[in-house]
Amino acid sequence: MAKRVILAYSGGLDTSVMVRWLTERGYDVITYTADVGQGEELSDIPKKAESSGAVEAIVEDLKEEFAKDYCLPTLRALALYEGKYPLSAALSRPLISKKLVYYAEKFKADYIAHGSTGKGNDQVRFEVSAWALNPNIEVLAPVREWEFRSREEEVEYALKQNIPVKITKDKPYSIDKNLWGVSIECGPMEDPTVEPPEDAFEWTMSPEKALEKPEYVEIEFEEGLPISVNGKRYEILSSLILDLNVIAGKHGIGRIDMVENRLVGIKSREVYEAPGATVLYTAYRELLALTTDRFTFHYFLSHIPHEYAKLVYEGLWFSPLREALDAFTSKLAKLVNGSVRLKLYKGSLTPVGRNSPNSLYVEELATYSEKDAFDHRAGASFTKVFGLPLKVFGRVRRR
Ligand code: ARG
Repeated sequence: MAKRVILAYSGGLDTSVMVRWLTERGYDVITYTADVGQGEELSDIPKKAESSGAVEAIVEDLKEEFAKDYCLPTLRALALYEGKYPLSAALSRPLISKKLVYYAEKFKADYIAHGSTGKGNDQVRFEVSAWALNPNIEVLAPVREWEFRSREEEVEYALKQNIPVKITKDKPYSIDKNLWGVSIECGPMEDPTVEPPEDAFEWTMSPEKALEKPEYVEIEFEEGLPISVNGKRYEILSSLILDLNVIAGKHGIGRIDMVENRLVGIKSREVYEAPGATVLYTAYRELLALTTDRFTFHYFLSHIPHEYAKLVYEGLWFSPLREALDAFTSKLAKLVNGSVRLKLYKGSLTPVGRNSPNSLYVEELATYSEKDAFDHRAGASFTKVFGLPLKVFGRVRRR
């Protein structure tokens, strides 16, 4: 009996060649393609997969599951890898792995396969996620072992094997897209001193060409869930995010350019576009700051965003650590109610107003006007006691 494999399939050159490559090695290939909001037409995927040799092609809309179960918890952790990257590509891998494992079990396949290389993060995320869900699953990663040394060699093979590939003069970029953001690598950006060329960007206007007039956007949250944009209510989170990508993208918001530490020890230059995610992070943070007491907010900031981002980046989504951190951030999310008004203008995003039914801002305490209700005299004793450790230290040092 032929060995059966579920292959994560994008329909691009690598995974199309992979279908045939695996078939030649005695596998029955079932392709799996997810719509995670990459905004590409997937209706011709089954035909394409089958003419490359797949015995079956599965296409599934995962947009809402991705938004609710992966992007939302990451937003609630305000997780940014190395303080900058909202983890778009990193977040889609565990979800796709989960589906690969599900279909492997359903179709009694012993193998899953992906198109990631041996020097990237994605191989780790796919494989670690799959093993956490099914420790017996075997993972194939043809790119790590096959004979092709270049795109040209793959194209040559594809032509010989009658695999449909569109030979357009493609841009020299490696792109990964989903509703949480676009990742752009390769081409001239491999030199970290070079500014990314304008044609590398897909979802954002360049700030200098963005609209001449600022636009205000108001985001409303209910228990940490974004529910409306400018008063328009959304039942579907993925639609809200996709709409925000358009609104903020027009203003050139959410471009990120960084050198990051990959899991395999390499530093790599990465460029991202995450307009919607950037707006949501900024808004969420404003409400969290407004509605949590100082102790809780400071604890959150020093313990959650970095740790959460690291675990997502490193492929540990299906871990008790992630579940435990989610329990913590879900508790705080209950406080995140109300709305934030933001100003979008030529690449800048500024929160300019925030309001919550459970706001901890008390005007009588904060004001410098005659409404002031703060006990100023208490300030003297407070400051004396608070400053005591350094006063003692200063005394000793002077001796
Ligand atoms: N550096 C990012 C990450 O590790 C993006 C990877 C995206 N993959 C790609 N084929 N462009 O999450």
